[in-house]
Amino acid sequence: MSVPFIELKRFEDGFLDSWNAKIKELSENTRFIGGPEIENLEAALRQECEVGHAIGCANGTDALQLALRGAGVGRGDLVLVPDLTFWATFEAVVNVGADPITVDVVEEDLQMDFDLFCKACKEYKPKAAILVHLYGWGSARLEEFRGFARENGIALIEDGAQSYGVTRGGKSIYSGAQVSTISFYPAKVFGAAGDAGAVLTSDESIAHRVRSLENHGRTTHYSYGLVGWNSRMDSFQAAYLNLSHPHLGARLESRRKSANVYREKLKDLPLRVVDVPSGYVENGYLNVLIVDQEKRPALEAHLKEEGIGFGIVYPGPMSVQDASSEYLKGKVGGQTAEKICKSVLNLPLFPYMKDEELDEVVGAVRGFFS
Ligand SMILES: Cc1ncc(COP(=O)(O)O)c(C=O)c1O
Repeated sequence: MSVPFIELKRFEDGFLDSWNAKIKELSENTRFIGGPEIENLEAALRQECEVGHAIGCANGTDALQLALRGAGVGRGDLVLVPDLTFWATFEAVVNVGADPITVDVVEEDLQMDFDLFCKACKEYKPKAAILVHLYGWGSARLEEFRGFARENGIALIEDGAQSYGVTRGGKSIYSGAQVSTISFYPAKVFGAAGDAGAVLTSDESIAHRVRSLENHGRTTHYSYGLVGWNSRMDSFQAAYLNLSHPHLGARLESRRKSANVYREKLKDLPLRVVDVPSGYVENGYLNVLIVDQEKRPALEAHLKEEGIGFGIVYPGPMSVQDASSEYLKGKVGGQTAEKICKSVLNLPLFPYMKDEELDEVVGAVRGFFS
C-alpha cells in the first residue's frame, strides 16, 4: 500500500455538502469581500488564540509583512530571523525594506537559539526579530525571548504559520505575543480552500495599523493615512475556515495521535523522532526525524521504492540561498541549521491517517534499518 506524504481529501461526513451550499449562498448574495464570514472568523480567532485583535489577510507571507509594518519596521531596519525556517520569513523582512540577519537554531527543539539571539541583539541592535514556531511546537525558551525583547525594546514578531492549535502551559501559543501571524495555506493544520492568513495582537495601535495597511492604508474609502496594499481575505476563504472550525479539534487529535505513533514505534531505531519541549502540546503539523546524514539518501530511495511519501523540511538554511546574499546583513552561527537540513526527513502526517497506513510507514522505515 502506498501512503502519500500529505492527503487533504479526508473530509468529515457532510463537510463537502455544507461547503457546496455555502458557495451557492455566497455567490447568490455576491458576498465576496468582507461581511459576516470574515467577522465570525476573526471573532473565533480572538477567542481561541486568546488575543485582543485578529485581522484576516490574504496569506501568511502578507501577515508577516503586515505585522512587521504594524510594529513600525521599515526601510533600513535590522531584523533577526532564524536560519531554519520557510523562505517567507526571510522574504517578508526584505519586502518591507528591512535587512535580515540570520540566527542559528538549537538541536534540541530546532527553534532559534536564545543565547545566540541575545548575542546578535548586543552586536547588531536590531529593531525587530521574527521568532518562528516551527514544525508544530515552539521554543523551550519562549518566555525568555519575549522577556528579553520587551526589556530591550525589540519588536518581536512571532511567525505562527505552522503553529495553529499549539498550546504552552495550557494557553494558546499566540497569547502573550506582541504580534503573531497565521497561515491558512491548505496544507496547514487549519487550512483554507486557497490562500489566507491572519495577524494577531493584543496591542491596540499595532492592530489599528495592520487593519488599515491590509486595506490600502485607508482611513475612509477614498482617503489614505498609510501606503498599504490589498491584502484582504476573501469571504470564501473565511467561510471555508468557519465550516472547518468545528472539526479542528478532531483533526488536531488525530494528527497528535499519529505523531506519537511514530515516536513510540520508531524509538528503538538509530534515528531521532524529535519530541516536543516540555510545557507544549503540539498540533501534529509535521513528523520530524533526524537521521544519519550519510544514510538519508538511501532512506529516501527506500521510501520511494516502498511507495511512502516523505518531505525534507527544509533542505537548506536561509543564509545559503542564492537570493539571500544580496540582502543578508549578518549571520550568527548557522552550523546547526545546516546540519539539520542535511539530516531531516518527514514521514506522512495528516488528519485521519488509518492504522494500516501508519503500520505501512513504520514497517517501511523499520525495514530500512533491519
Ligand atoms: C514558517 C512559515 N512562515 C510563513 C509562511 C507563509 O505562509 P503563506 O504560504 O500562507 O504565505 C509559511 C507557509 O508555508 C511558513 O511555513
